[in-house]
Amino acid sequence: MLDLEMPLPPCNFVIFGATGNLASNKLLPALYRLQLAGKLPETLNMVAFARRDWDDAQWRRHVRETLADRFPTDEAELSRFAGRFDYLQGDLEDPLAYVALKDVLAKPKLGVCSNVVFYLAIKPPDFPAVIRHLDGAGLSRPRGLHRIVVEKPFGEDIESAKALNELLHRYFDESQVFRIDHYMGKETVQNLLVFRFANTLIEPLWNRNFIDHVQITVAESVGVDGRADYYDRAGALRDMIQNHLMQLLTLVAMEPPAALEADTLRDEKVKVLRSIRPIAKRSVHAHTFRAQYVDGLVGGERVPGYQKEPGVEANSVTETYAVAKFYIDNWRWRGVPFYLRTGKRLKQQLSMIAIRLRHPPQQLFRETPLEQLEPNWIILSIQPDECMHMEIHAKKPGLDMDTRVVRLDASYRSPEEKTLDAYDALLLDVIEGDRTLFIRFDEVEWAWRVVDPIIKQWAQEREFIHTYAAGTWGPHESNRLFDAEDTEWRNGV
Ligand code: BG6
Repeated sequence: MLDLEMPLPPCNFVIFGATGNLASNKLLPALYRLQLAGKLPETLNMVAFARRDWDDAQWRRHVRETLADRFPTDEAELSRFAGRFDYLQGDLEDPLAYVALKDVLAKPKLGVCSNVVFYLAIKPPDFPAVIRHLDGAGLSRPRGLHRIVVEKPFGEDIESAKALNELLHRYFDESQVFRIDHYMGKETVQNLLVFRFANTLIEPLWNRNFIDHVQITVAESVGVDGRADYYDRAGALRDMIQNHLMQLLTLVAMEPPAALEADTLRDEKVKVLRSIRPIAKRSVHAHTFRAQYVDGLVGGERVPGYQKEPGVEANSVTETYAVAKFYIDNWRWRGVPFYLRTGKRLKQQLSMIAIRLRHPPQQLFRETPLEQLEPNWIILSIQPDECMHMEIHAKKPGLDMDTRVVRLDASYRSPEEKTLDAYDALLLDVIEGDRTLFIRFDEVEWAWRVVDPIIKQWAQEREFIHTYAAGTWGPHESNRLFDAEDTEWRNGV
């Protein structure tokens, strides 16, 4: 993680797929926020590489228009930002485009630049061409200074992930490869480490003796957002569970790392992934659930079902909602179910980790109103609200022996303290060369090992998929995964 007080080294930042969805929604806003915060070094050159037949002026107008909607308009600041880009028109498959890129990089506008970041904000099928052509043009070196950022999903199953990794390693050293999972850049996610390992109060509770189960939810109210060509091949399991939700699981479940360094942290995450009990083919149904949204109301507005989204194949059975139950077979977690749930077009946007503690032995309260005491929860909410709290019971003032739930609020940000977007922090880390929050290949590989049997089984079952109305919390049938009858989804902080 970056020390924001240190001056950043000069750098070229090349975005492949600069006119695409990811660049517009995440990368440009993040880079602009960094500029506004005075964190982008003045010697940073940015190069936008895309297929559209534009010149610098057209690209810069696009940047200004993209950002003007999201930020209070300061024309001068926006123009300064847009002016820091060069636009390079090129086809990802064309080797000559990379020679042209090399020329652009050789003439930095703002001083000597030695670091270069190549950000692949492109569709996974285009990765191999870019990797090969970068090397062909001599841009994969020098080793220490040229970095390549690869977005998730890294492969579409274990075999393709291995093939992609081999290809990368043919041309780049591991030290140059930054596999990004932007959930690792979210502050609550990082705060989870502090919460767990800096508080003596928490650690003794954090195991199967006290924890009944863990729910990890990433719910979205948006649909496929114009990305059906990618999403219809991927589905929720590949798009979210294999990466973002698995990363959250590893941070909840891992042992304390020896230090907060890239490899020690990642070693612990891998140990968790390796300890997840493999799901046998015949158990896939008992451990997973999938569904797809149909028309419904989201935030009062009628939205079309998945099948009607442009670009979705007729009769597609791609899941837009997925639930998986995992067990981690180690001393700490044996027997504790981890329920992972994600979906598009759900009732509201909500990403959170909800940890339910075991029921207290209740004999003491038998024959009092407390007989039905709810167990305690620990809630770590990632978005839209960032908060952390523990729910405990306290006596209601008065003569009766009755209780109410009191929240021990461990939120760490006051309203005037600004939230950093995940991409802001991670882009700075890439520029700085800090790999702590990036994903090592063995993490990717083990995460694929866990979900691969599910993918294979689902791929064979193409006749039927459960449905849910957009704007709901998904089908009730997913409750069949719960081990205990008193378990329910927690749908709010
Ligand atoms: C991306 C997925 O990785 O994460 C998208 O491809 C999803 O489908 C997005 O919408 C969610 O990210 P966030 O930060 O908005 O929760």
